[in-house]
Amino acid sequence: MANRREFISTATLTAAGIALAPLVACSQEPAAGAAAPAAAAPKPFKGPLLTRAVPATGEKIPVIGMGTSGSFEVGTDAAGRAPLGEVLDTFVGAGGSLIDTAPTYSTAEDVLGDLIADAKVRQKLFIATKLSGVSGREEGLAQFNDSLRRLKTDKVELLQVHNLRDTAVQIALARELKQQGKTRYVGLTHYREDGQAQLAAEMRQHKPDWVQINYSPVSRGAEKTIFPLAQELGIAVMINRAFEDGRLISQMRDKPLPPWAAEVGADSWAQLILKYVLSQPAVTVVIPATSKARHQLDNLKAGTGQLLDAKQRDALVAAMA
Ligand SMILES: NC(=O)c1ccc[n+]([C@@H]2O[C@H](COP(=O)([O-])OP(=O)(O)OC[C@H]3O[C@@H](n4cnc5c(N)ncnc54)[C@H](OP(=O)(O)O)[C@@H]3O)[C@@H](O)[C@H]2O)c1
Repeated sequence: MANRREFISTATLTAAGIALAPLVACSQEPAAGAAAPAAAAPKPFKGPLLTRAVPATGEKIPVIGMGTSGSFEVGTDAAGRAPLGEVLDTFVGAGGSLIDTAPTYSTAEDVLGDLIADAKVRQKLFIATKLSGVSGREEGLAQFNDSLRRLKTDKVELLQVHNLRDTAVQIALARELKQQGKTRYVGLTHYREDGQAQLAAEMRQHKPDWVQINYSPVSRGAEKTIFPLAQELGIAVMINRAFEDGRLISQMRDKPLPPWAAEVGADSWAQLILKYVLSQPAVTVVIPATSKARHQLDNLKAGTGQLLDAKQRDALVAAMA
């Protein structure tokens, strides 16, 4: 664990705004034979992270959150979990707070709950989980109580109805749990363009505190429906699948960054994509998922400095079309 401890102090110092040597010297180097980054050595993280307010309360949320689908779905072995401990340490050390999970992401809630307890960081986090794939109040309640046990907590910050399943019943349950102090906010989620019309209708009907939806330079449907509606109704917006499950980054891997990337302080395609997403004023937080601390640090850097102007956003869309 010596390496992990060393990493924590590095991340913490960096979050405090102290410029450190780039992490290229640490053990999270890409494996030999992996594609070399096109740019020079990456810049260190220099915080603080930008924040955005939740319309319902004014609470400030750091704009870079993290997802757990896929990335946190590992077993109990130390080899699988240690890199995720570093992912969490890096996130918290940089001032990150919002983590999205779900009871139906196989082991993700268990892994997250254990790592949060080990690192003793629960009070620094905003945990968002879901009522997922359940029908009826009793099934939803049993699933939520199990989520609390798995996450090793007595409440969460946000409880979302996953993918519009049994929405009326499950959002009523989420509101009941909000009344009891078991969650501070309620939300609705979807993850595809073809779910956005129904999501918009349910936003109008149920007026949740939060909505979660997909958005990226190649999936821009939310600009037409979800973003303006969220602003009209005062709903916070969480963005999933900004990297299209990683495909967008793979597609751009060997291409040089545009010359204007340095103007916005970006030294990777991942940062440009996240800055693109955050350039939408309706967006509150984006939740890229990663299993690697060096990618976490890369993603966190997108939440500092300048965002993209309209011309830069158009150029990024054209580069990725
Ligand atoms: N309906 C819903 O409510 C719903 C649906 C989908 C997703 N979600 C939520 O949204 C989160 C994000 O979506 P997602 O996981 O589907 O996809 P994503 O964030 O678009 O992409 C994740 C992929 O990007 C890679 N990656 C992350 N950071 C990188 C970096 N800096 N450089 C290179 N590669 C990087 C990861 O690989 P490495 O591990 O190698 O970094 C992973 O394969 C999920 O985890 C989940 O919490 C919710």
